[in-house]
Amino acid sequence: MDDYGISAHAAVDVVADHVAQARDGRGPVTTQPDPDALATELELDRWIRHGGMDHAALARWLPGYLDATVRLHHPGSLAHQVAVPSTGPAVADLIHGATNNPMAKYEMGAAGATIEREVVRWMLEKVGFDRHASGGVLTHGGSLANLTALLAARARVAPEAWREGVPGDLALLAPPSVHYSVRRAAAILGLGEDAVVELDVDGHERIRPDRLAAGLDRCAVAGRRPIALVAVAPATSTGLHDDLNAIGLFCTDHGIWLHVDAAHGGSALLSEQYRHLLAGIELADSVVWDAHKMLRTSGLCAAVLVRRGPDLPAAFQQRGDYVFDDRDPVGFDLLDRALETTKTTLGLKLFLSLAWAGERGLGDYVGSRYDLALRFHEVLSSEPGVSCPYVPESNIVCFRVGNGDQLALLDRLTADGRLHFGSTTIDGDRYLRLVVTAPDTDEATLAELIRAIRDAVPRATDLGPVRA
Ligand SMILES: Cc1ncc(COP(=O)(O)O)c(C=O)c1O
Repeated sequence: MDDYGISAHAAVDVVADHVAQARDGRGPVTTQPDPDALATELELDRWIRHGGMDHAALARWLPGYLDATVRLHHPGSLAHQVAVPSTGPAVADLIHGATNNPMAKYEMGAAGATIEREVVRWMLEKVGFDRHASGGVLTHGGSLANLTALLAARARVAPEAWREGVPGDLALLAPPSVHYSVRRAAAILGLGEDAVVELDVDGHERIRPDRLAAGLDRCAVAGRRPIALVAVAPATSTGLHDDLNAIGLFCTDHGIWLHVDAAHGGSALLSEQYRHLLAGIELADSVVWDAHKMLRTSGLCAAVLVRRGPDLPAAFQQRGDYVFDDRDPVGFDLLDRALETTKTTLGLKLFLSLAWAGERGLGDYVGSRYDLALRFHEVLSSEPGVSCPYVPESNIVCFRVGNGDQLALLDRLTADGRLHFGSTTIDGDRYLRLVVTAPDTDEATLAELIRAIRDAVPRATDLGPVRA
C-alpha cells in the first residue's frame, strides 16, 4: 500500500476511536484552548514551513487536533444545529477528498452529478412538488441556498435586474425571526436591508397569518413590490414553525412568491409523527432544506428546491466559454442553477446517509430527537426556578433559570465542558438554548443538566424570581 492508503487507514483508525469515545460520553464535549497555545502545541508553524508529515507523524499529530475539536457525537453536545455525521457521509467525505470531482458539469463527475440529480428528485417528492415540473440543486450551505432561492424570486419579479441593475422599489416580506442569511441575501441582491418589510408576529415570533394583509399594505404604502415572502420551518432561535398552509394560501391569492426556509425542519418531512408541522410547504415557490442539519450529513449539503424547475436557471445568465461549447453534451449540467462553479460531491453525502439508514431510519432519528426535546421541556419546566417560554415543536428547547444574567449562568453550567449549549433571544429576552441532535443524548444527559442547574443555582431564588 502506498503512503496514501496507509495514511488514510491511520487517520480512520484514530478518528473511529475518537468518535467511539465521544459517543460513550468520555471526556469533555469541548475545550476552548488559547489559539496561540494550540498553534504551538500542534506545531503548526513547523508543519506549514517544512512539511514532511507521513502516516506515522499523522497518527501522532491527529489526537492533539481531535482533542481541540467539538465532540458532536458526545451526548452532552447540545449547542448547535450541526449534524452529527453518520458513517455514510463520513466515508463520502473521504471518497470525495480522494476523487475530487467538481460535478456541477456532468463531464467532470458523472457519478456525483447523477447522484445529486436523484437525491434532489427525492427531496422534491418529499416536499410534495411535481417531480416532472419542479427542480433543484445542492449548494454549500443554507445561507447560499437562501440567496439562490431569493435570486430566483427576484428574477421572476424583476427579470431586468440581472442586466440593468436592481430597481429601487423591491421589497422582501419576512418575520423578524428569519435567519440572518435572509437579510444578508436582501443586501447582496441589491435590495438593501431596509427593503426587508417585517411581518407582524405573535409573542413567540411566529408570523401572524391574520396580519399578513397589513404587512402587504405597509409594502404598498412604501411604494414597494415584494419579490417574496419568507416563512420559517422552523425559526432558528425558537424551533417554532410558521403556519405554512395559511401563509401559502395568502401568497397564492396575492401572487406573491413564497420562500420557505426549512433549512432546519425540512427533515421532519421524513417523520410520520412530525410531518404535519410542514403542512402547506407544497404551496411554496421555493424551499431550502439542509441535509447537514438533521439528515446526519457532514457540512455542507443544502438543497434549493423550486416548484417550477425553469425558475432556477432563469436566475443565472452567464456562461463560461472554457466550460461550455456548442456540442450537445452527454448528461446534464448544474452550472446554470447555482452560484458555485466548482462544487464538492454534495449529493454523495446525502446518498450514503440514506443508503445507510433509509428514509425511514432518518425519519425515526428526527422523530426521536423531537420527542426527547419534549421530554427535556417536561422535566425542565417542572424544575423549581426554571421556566420554558413554549412547548418545543422540534429539537430546539429554550429555557431560563430565574431572571438574572443567563449568560453568566451559561458559563457556569458549561464550565467543565461536560455539557455544551448556547443561548438566544426571543422577543428581546435572553434564554438558554439546547439543540437535541446527538443520537446518544438521552435521559442521563437530561439528569446531568438538571444536576448542573441545581449545583450552579443552589436556591431557585439565587437568580431572581422566575418570569411569568
Ligand atoms: C433557518 C435557517 N436558515 C439558514 C441557516 C443557515 O444555514 P448554513 O449555516 O448552512 O449556511 C440556518 C442555520 O442555522 C437556519 O437555522
